[in-house]
Amino acid sequence: NNYCVIMAGGVGSRFWPMSTQKYPKQFQDILGTGRTMIQQTYDRIRKIVPAENIYVITNKEYISLTEEQLPEIALENIVGEPMMKNTAACNIYMAKKIADKNENANIIVLPADHLILKENIFLKKAELAFNLAEKNDYLITLGIKPTRPDTGYGYIQFVEKKKAEFFKVKTFTEKPDLEIAKTFLESGDFLWNAGIFVWNVKSILDAFNSYLPEMAQSFESCEYNSKGEEQCIDLIYPKVNKISIDNGILEKAQNVYVIPADLGWSDLGTWTSIYENAEKGENENSVNTKHFVTYNSKGNLIKLKNENKAVVIDGLENFIVVDTDKALLICPRENDQLIKDYVQDLKTLK
Ligand code: GDD
Ligand code: MG
Repeated sequence: NNYCVIMAGGVGSRFWPMSTQKYPKQFQDILGTGRTMIQQTYDRIRKIVPAENIYVITNKEYISLTEEQLPEIALENIVGEPMMKNTAACNIYMAKKIADKNENANIIVLPADHLILKENIFLKKAELAFNLAEKNDYLITLGIKPTRPDTGYGYIQFVEKKKAEFFKVKTFTEKPDLEIAKTFLESGDFLWNAGIFVWNVKSILDAFNSYLPEMAQSFESCEYNSKGEEQCIDLIYPKVNKISIDNGILEKAQNVYVIPADLGWSDLGTWTSIYENAEKGENENSVNTKHFVTYNSKGNLIKLKNENKAVVIDGLENFIVVDTDKALLICPRENDQLIKDYVQDLKTLK
């Protein structure tokens, strides 16, 4: 009864200029491991979920990229969305589609762009979550011990019962502002939401009925796994609400549970997260070429498309420099959340 949905529809705009609309980060080998982010996600879950139960949901634009990178997945399991509607829509869509095949299905939902260094722990926690979801109407998330007041994550406050492997969630706060994130971090009662969810199809569809009833109603009108599915989805998508599963469901539901998990996890969502996970040389500079010298410079991330280019840096601290064929980014590391806005502004130029 165990299924997996890999969400791969984001465009990774905080990752410009390496991630672009044509070629978003989940389809790139960002860390230089030989496998792209989505391939690593697939390889990992494939160990406990059979290939025929693994689905990818992404924008129609990326279906051929997905096919190319994951040839083991049957075409009918690669599902295209006509437009980006954030993660609530793709989750109800997939729950409906899978429930139509197996009304007792449990689903693990995985973002396509996360780094997980401790694969064995991940697999153990995933198994535990599947077992819990099989028997209970829980909406389960994996929780990560926070290390900084990051405003890009969801924060989970849990009810502590000593020595349990999972806890009931008291509050779920998606992307708090910095002041609140700081208090959460200091209080010590909070975990980050890893964005990895496990539930059975009945529980998640019930939650949609309760908290996003309009959306639930729209998706009621299609016949899944039929010839007309695509046309029906194309019709309802423009009308559905653009909201994340976190804001739409998890902040509101009363049956959310968290499994704390030390996964060696990172949402490779920003250049700072890449910097933190990258190999660093002298003075904490990370430069992806062998031919470089630095003077009075520290804490920089320099990423070049051409790894044979020679680099000299003098007097630069805590900057991101990314050079591709089409663009050059130079910005302070602390501004990496603004890259989304830079990209928007660039689009307004002619
Ligand atoms: N199919 C599809 N369609 N996938 C999407 C869409 C969409 O419209 N929008 C986003 N995704 C995919 C992204 O590619 C990514 O893999 C995943 O869904 C999560 O979306 P993000 O946009 O990366 O979310 P986030 O990082 O801001 O926040 C989420 O993840 C954090 C942890 O990394 C939330 O769940 C937070 O609570 C969480 O802490
Ligand atoms: Mg993310």
